[in-house]
Amino acid sequence: MIKQEDVKIVLKQDETLKYDRQNYLEFHQELSSKDREIAILLRDEPIFDVLVPQGVFNPYGGIAAQAFMSGILNEDVLVKGKKVLDLGCGCGVIGLCCIVKDSSQVVFSDLHPNVLPLQNNALMREQDRVKVQDLCAGEAENSYDLVFMPFPSRSIDRPIDPSSYEMGILRNDDLVFRAIAQVGKVLVPSGEFVFFYRVFNDRFPLYLEVMSTLAEDFDLSSLKLLWYVREKTGHSLLLSVKKQEK
Ligand SMILES: C[S@@+](CC[C@H](N)C(=O)[O-])C[C@H]1O[C@@H](n2cnc3c(N)ncnc32)[C@H](O)[C@@H]1O
Repeated sequence: MIKQEDVKIVLKQDETLKYDRQNYLEFHQELSSKDREIAILLRDEPIFDVLVPQGVFNPYGGIAAQAFMSGILNEDVLVKGKKVLDLGCGCGVIGLCCIVKDSSQVVFSDLHPNVLPLQNNALMREQDRVKVQDLCAGEAENSYDLVFMPFPSRSIDRPIDPSSYEMGILRNDDLVFRAIAQVGKVLVPSGEFVFFYRVFNDRFPLYLEVMSTLAEDFDLSSLKLLWYVREKTGHSLLLSVKKQEK
């Protein structure tokens, strides 16, 4: 099981925030209210710094990004030599870990218009790209070895403001189904999809629907639970599944 606690995210500028994770919406609204720099540490050793632009999801104080990063940096998920799509990249922490671990190329993709300053991060290589687009809209079929997607954790039925902090934390469940179908196209046969998904106790049938949608393009016998956390209202899962060989 991934050791999520190996990775820490710290705010570079010392400050006391008004809200904590218990007030989830307010916490993220405050965190995303201005540009902030964060530092990523692995077992207390600094790995890299990154800018989180205003409005973009800030992984500080959360759980999912650390699980992805720990999985990559500790090599529970192997990225070396692979072409990676960091879908819903936000400030880019997952894809930057893939660069640290020698992926051959990383494409960072997010619908939020403010993600572009990631292009200036010191780790970016000539072959890496940052794109603003809806899910995999501009990506070719059978072109990635590995896709990461940390789905926003809160499920909501109302429309979401696409240029605000809301897009980082709220999802219409249609997003999950659209992403599974598109990732099933852009991965090479036997390519790997690693995703974070929050299952709500009162929406459990939705989880079954997610599984049967996955079964259309993915080999469910390869499904692995990489990490999980049990919460009062549901469970947060980090899952890995391989595309069918076809
Ligand atoms: C929970 S955040 C994760 C951000 C980042 N990967 C991290 O770990 O810090 C989810 C991300 O998905 C992005 N997102 C939401 N809907 C999207 C869509 N339709 N297409 C692309 N990205 C989307 C949000 O803008 C947000 O950056």
